[in-house]
Amino acid sequence: MPLDFISYSLINGPPEWARSNFMRMVYVVATAGFLVLLKKFCSGRTNTSERPMHGKVVIITGGTTGVGARVANDLAKRGAQIVLLTHVPPSDPFLAEYIQDLRDKYDNQLIYAEQVDLSSLHSIRKFATKWIDNAPPRRLDMIVLCAATLTPPGKERVITEDGIEETWMVNYLANFHLLAILSPALRAQPFDRDVRILVATCSSYIRSPSLKEPIDESTWSPTVAYARSKLALTTFGHAYQKHLDSYKRPDGFPVTTRVVFVDPGFCRTAGMRRWLTKGTLTGLTLYVLGYFVPWMLLKSPEQGAQSFYYAAMDGDILRGGGGKLIKECREVDFARPEVKDEEVAKKLWEESDALIEKMEKAASKRRAAKRKEEELLAVKREDKDKSDDTASLRSLKKSKSRDKSSKDKKRDKDKDEDRKKDKSKSEKSKSSSSSSWSSSKRKSKKTDP
Ligand SMILES: NC(=O)c1ccc[n+]([C@@H]2O[C@H](COP(=O)([O-])OP(=O)(O)OC[C@H]3O[C@@H](n4cnc5c(N)ncnc54)[C@H](OP(=O)(O)O)[C@@H]3O)[C@@H](O)[C@H]2O)c1
Repeated sequence: MPLDFISYSLINGPPEWARSNFMRMVYVVATAGFLVLLKKFCSGRTNTSERPMHGKVVIITGGTTGVGARVANDLAKRGAQIVLLTHVPPSDPFLAEYIQDLRDKYDNQLIYAEQVDLSSLHSIRKFATKWIDNAPPRRLDMIVLCAATLTPPGKERVITEDGIEETWMVNYLANFHLLAILSPALRAQPFDRDVRILVATCSSYIRSPSLKEPIDESTWSPTVAYARSKLALTTFGHAYQKHLDSYKRPDGFPVTTRVVFVDPGFCRTAGMRRWLTKGTLTGLTLYVLGYFVPWMLLKSPEQGAQSFYYAAMDGDILRGGGGKLIKECREVDFARPEVKDEEVAKKLWEESDALIEKMEKAASKRRAAKRKEEELLAVKREDKDKSDDTASLRSLKKSKSRDKSSKDKKRDKDKDEDRKKDKSKSEKSKSSSSSSWSSSKRKSKKTDP
């Protein structure tokens, strides 16, 4: 059909309908071409780097949804051992099914989950201390920090159980706490092991107010809180690389752990959808009705994960030290020099340390008080149970003795009645015997001659 049309047009010139609609056709073709190019541009670059991942041990936060889930899938496909740090316990039916699906899909049984609520300092400490307590030190090849939270616009500021603002806690402090505790586990890896820490960042950090400016309730907004948490995470990441590099290994070899920052670009993930729809039903309806726009302009989670694949597998990344920023599968510069400011990083580290210490102490006191209260309650319950038992035993005994006495009474009564009956019987028999005797006497008198 197109060949017929082309040959006809070449011989006879374009048909009349094509000539009269020429400009319209040009617009249609130009618009389609523009949309295809725009879609291609917004989809980002594709990773081409490869590295054997079989048997490598990878810890992933946020590996159940969005970009993190794609990273978990890809690494599972390549045979890596995956430890998912999840919000919910491994017994959660949806999580259990998700893990089983991954195992079956990629024929990889080395995938499991550990519950780590990143909004709780205690939960992070519990997991991390368990990990480093392992002797000999556990193999660890990669940590992928993908979890994050973003409060939808117009929603209230959330404070965690520890009393810390949630965005700051999950996006920054949780990663600080986790990496600080896991530091010995990273340093204990053999000198020839290529260990990478992939930190998810976002270009929103560029618009964040400086870390030198404190933030409080009056200056808080969801976007400022998110941007500030990402700026703090990027600043801390650089300081953490220096902290690792400064370690003198007993074998004298240099540290091979590298912190790599990854910006996936804007993606159509659950977090982004919640933010675009402001977490409302009306917003969600509009999102679904106008889905063409996010589909066109935002990456899919798989496209967003490409820069993570590059950061996880590219060999050149290790050259020239850590602290690189990967965007669109290539190294780019940081847009804010503040992220490498040592003074800011030192202050941030000290303040974070002090905040964690204060909050952990307060939380442990709260837990101890709660435990004591529970123990007291348990003792009271036990005492009550005991007194209930003795009371019921007593009432049982009473009722038993009551039964016994009533039985005895009945028996006595029966005996009395029996005795009476016997007596009356014997009296009757006596009278009858006497009468028979008298009658027999009378009879004998009659018969006697
Ligand atoms: N999407 C984008 O457009 C975009 C752009 C730039 C950068 N990024 C960054 O890329 C990373 C991945 O983004 P995403 O959009 O794929 O994320 P997402 O879909 O919003 O998923 C966030 C993940 O974090 C986990 N999480 C949240 N709070 C947690 C908590 N308290 N404890 C444990 N886990 C918790 C969630 O687990 P549950 O579902 O179980 O709560 C979920 O798996 C994030 O760091 C984000 O900042 C994303």
